[in-house]
Amino acid sequence: MRLRRLSQALLRRTSTSRSAGARAFSTGGSGAIDVHTHMYLPSYMEVLKKRTEIPRVVTVEGQDRLVILPGEDDEVTTATGRPIGREYWDVKAKLEYMDMHNIETSIVSLANPWLDFLTGDAAASVAQELNDELQSMCEQSGGRLLGMATLPVRNPEAAVREVERIKKLSFIRGVILGTPGAGDGLDHDNVRDMLVAIEDQGLPIFLHPHYGVGNEHFHDTGHALFLALGFPMETTVCVSRMITTGAMDKLPNLKILVAHAGAALPSLIGRLDSCVEHDIAIADRLLMKPTDYLKKMHFDAISYSTPAMQHLIELVGEDCIMFGTDNPFFPPAGVPADEVCSHEWPSTKKVWTTLGDLGGETQKKIVRDNALRLFGPNK
Ligand code: URA
Ligand code: ZN
Repeated sequence: MRLRRLSQALLRRTSTSRSAGARAFSTGGSGAIDVHTHMYLPSYMEVLKKRTEIPRVVTVEGQDRLVILPGEDDEVTTATGRPIGREYWDVKAKLEYMDMHNIETSIVSLANPWLDFLTGDAAASVAQELNDELQSMCEQSGGRLLGMATLPVRNPEAAVREVERIKKLSFIRGVILGTPGAGDGLDHDNVRDMLVAIEDQGLPIFLHPHYGVGNEHFHDTGHALFLALGFPMETTVCVSRMITTGAMDKLPNLKILVAHAGAALPSLIGRLDSCVEHDIAIADRLLMKPTDYLKKMHFDAISYSTPAMQHLIELVGEDCIMFGTDNPFFPPAGVPADEVCSHEWPSTKKVWTTLGDLGGETQKKIVRDNALRLFGPNK
């Protein structure tokens, strides 16, 4: 009953017109809500195209290429970045992709590295512009899109003000944050006010990697190890620090959605429990053991592995895991950049397969109900 009311409220709040909303919410029938899906909004693309240093978009033989990852241009196997096309910035491409992959609603976040390279007034004003642009894109989407805001994290006072300001943006239902915060990590005091403001508003944080951990091991392996290992280890370190430093104890109601199915945490949490327990000074300053903090968090379902999904469910329960795709990253391999929008995406199909393997009520909760509860209005 409660879910039905939320569902109706979500519909009401996100439809610009009755018919557009009704049409949008009946496509495909899955009702799927994608909580991990990105765009580079048009004004952000302009910023990236003007830059001469990472992060930037370069044009090589008429093809735009994304060079955003640390050290990417120094390493032979990654120096030319990755091809980038309209799937990154064109709202029509996002909606076409959603239709093709049976996704009803997308909660769109800016892709990495957000505003990490801007400080001061520039960070503050670009954040406002982007969040307004996202709100208006969602407003015009016929009920298909919601958004997660980007914060000017290198200007923590402005970040607090922006958290306040986005209150009035009805389609914004969360904020995406990278792991460094203002440069010293999300467990540092310099971002505490921002996190408290987010907590007070009840907005979920979508915690997402960008910088990688262990990069010194990834030369000569293209983007593969950076994305497969560096990204999840970064998320793992960030969450583990937030737990073990006591930062989580100061933010008891903060809602955190951890990217990439909790990264390495589901596998390492038993070890983390044990190592904390054996370091009495650390154990004594915490209110709970690390596993219990993890059980308060939320996770996307992007593991590409049925056994990994089963393990995550066993560990944290089936009520805090939600469908995600990481679109427009991981496009169909080997397909020319200008054709990816008209192809089915095997990476997305793989997520669907792992959820199909779970079946029944569990699948339904992960595909829709859990996200509806976390991102519904007034959440
Ligand atoms: N590569 C990125 O740069 N970002 C993602 O979110 C996924 C892959
Ligand atoms: Zn992502």
